[in-house]
Amino acid sequence: MLRLDIVSIFPEYFAPLDVSLIGKARERGTLDVRLHQLRDWAHDVHKTVDDTPYGGGPGMVMKPEVWGEAIDTVIGDGTPRMIVPTPSGRPFTQELAQELAREEWLLFCCGRYEGIDSRVMTEYGSRLRVDEVSIGDYVLAGGEVAVLVMVEAIGRLLPGVLGNACSAVDDSFAPGSMRNLLEGPVYTKPPVWRGHEVPGVLLSGHHGKVARWRRDEALRRTVKNRPELAANLDPQTLDKHDQALLKDLETPDSP
Ligand SMILES: C[S@@+](CC[C@H](N)C(=O)[O-])C[C@H]1O[C@@H](n2cnc3c(N)ncnc32)[C@H](O)[C@@H]1O
Repeated sequence: MLRLDIVSIFPEYFAPLDVSLIGKARERGTLDVRLHQLRDWAHDVHKTVDDTPYGGGPGMVMKPEVWGEAIDTVIGDGTPRMIVPTPSGRPFTQELAQELAREEWLLFCCGRYEGIDSRVMTEYGSRLRVDEVSIGDYVLAGGEVAVLVMVEAIGRLLPGVLGNACSAVDDSFAPGSMRNLLEGPVYTKPPVWRGHEVPGVLLSGHHGKVARWRRDEALRRTVKNRPELAANLDPQTLDKHDQALLKDLETPDSP
């Protein structure tokens, strides 16, 4: 079971964690999600959690005292791994999701405004493993959506959460032979829809050919949509056919 504590000034943002795979995982007890309102640890009448930044500049910064009291109360003597979403953090990747899915307890601290006073991360960094994590190169209004993204990516990797455990093995970015590869296109019935046919190989029943076709499509899609990933594929994960296809795709006038 994975325990998740989430501290935010908008705990209601996390209503989606009641539905679908994650909702079921919570019902089954695979995931224990505990939401906390940060303002419960603010003591003035306005329940203030922010103040003006030292050094000047626009926006507000979240106060260390409120965060300190909140985190102390939530963790007690425990040592969860603390995750702080921020656009200036390390990238959230499938690899990090796998790593976090192996933890027993995660504490997510959702920033708003210009973020959390940096001393909070310094203070807890001496007691806990603290990771500042970015979900992408863009700026959101708050950490809540970033935490929803991370919880969904982590939660679906927990044992028993996905109906078919193999789904995660074939996913884009999955460890092993799909590392740094995007998954290719997928199809279901009917075999012809509005004149568009499902690629014949998928109807052939020939597992080896299907696997080869899927891998070719994964390579093609990665070269097209994420050339920087394709350029960094580990040669040890590439067979002769992969290498020949990649060489072909490098040629500018190839189809
Ligand atoms: C407006 S942003 C603060 C941006 C900050 N001034 C900067 O440029 O790094 C407010 C909060 O949204 C969250 N946030 C915004 N973009 C994010 C991203 N790409 N990944 C993770 N969290 C993000 C963080 O919790 C952040 O503290």
